[in-house]
Amino acid sequence: MSNLKSLNHHFAIPGHLTFIEGPGGMAVARIQNGLASSDIALQGAHILTFQPKGEEPVIWLSPQAKFAPGKSVRGGVPVCWPWFGNHATEAGFPAHGFARTIEWRVIDSKALPSGATRITFELQKNAAARAQWPHMCHLRNIITVGRELTIELVTQNTGTSPFEITEALHTYFVIGDIDAVQITGLEGCEYLDKVDDFKRKTEPSAVTITSEVDRVYLNTTADCVIHDQKLNRRIRVTKTGSHSAVVWNPWIEKTKQMGDLGENGYRGMVCVESGNAADNVVAVAPGETHTLRAVYSVEKL
Ligand code: BG6
Repeated sequence: MSNLKSLNHHFAIPGHLTFIEGPGGMAVARIQNGLASSDIALQGAHILTFQPKGEEPVIWLSPQAKFAPGKSVRGGVPVCWPWFGNHATEAGFPAHGFARTIEWRVIDSKALPSGATRITFELQKNAAARAQWPHMCHLRNIITVGRELTIELVTQNTGTSPFEITEALHTYFVIGDIDAVQITGLEGCEYLDKVDDFKRKTEPSAVTITSEVDRVYLNTTADCVIHDQKLNRRIRVTKTGSHSAVVWNPWIEKTKQMGDLGENGYRGMVCVESGNAADNVVAVAPGETHTLRAVYSVEKL
């Protein structure tokens, strides 16, 4: 049985979930229920799209995204794990870890009484991943697609020694225009300014973006809210198990260097990431489980 045939046989749910061949031949879980739709690639358990019924899309996917085995897709919700950003000591290891570029398998699917659809993925560590991070662990990504999008990244230590991780749900959100957006919830927070040599600064007010922004906010659990005057909506990011937030927009020069964001792509997206990075390392003891949970909801203005 082909992979898609087998996935559909075991996990498809009429009126909710089917598996299709997506861009670049990738296996994609396609959720379409009465509340919303979402495409999720099995590579990276990577949410590519999310759109509540009758609303504008919430998750941004680059028009120039490249879909290839072992390469992260530009846009959507990349899962950064078991480290966020560059590896602390090994320059040759992939930025943001390996979870976003390797295959995950589907282990469960459910239609919920609310009308939402839940799908659970489990990371399948390959040899390179095992060599880079030799710990006994289960990593699950439980995604619930309803009026809201809920993502639960569950790290379980199945070994006999403790380990540490950093992580993020590196979500790209659709915005009407970067000039018409501000992000609240981070006022008064300390952050590392990655475009100013990781200097520690304090955010004085709501975040507006008029040049490259790459900030890791520390010790914050508050909701982040994207206020969008052009699309007349707010996107609310609520989280638990998260002590860091990252705000990123590459602006003009970095966009040119990246080559997969589309010429003016930076104007239509902003990353507001939930996770645990830098100072906020998470230690997971043997037998313990740590859950990073984020919920994205839209509020009309
Ligand atoms: C952000 C980082 O989270 O991700 C940035 O803070 C980085 O420094 C950006 O440039 C994109 O990373 P990548 O590896 O997907 O190009």
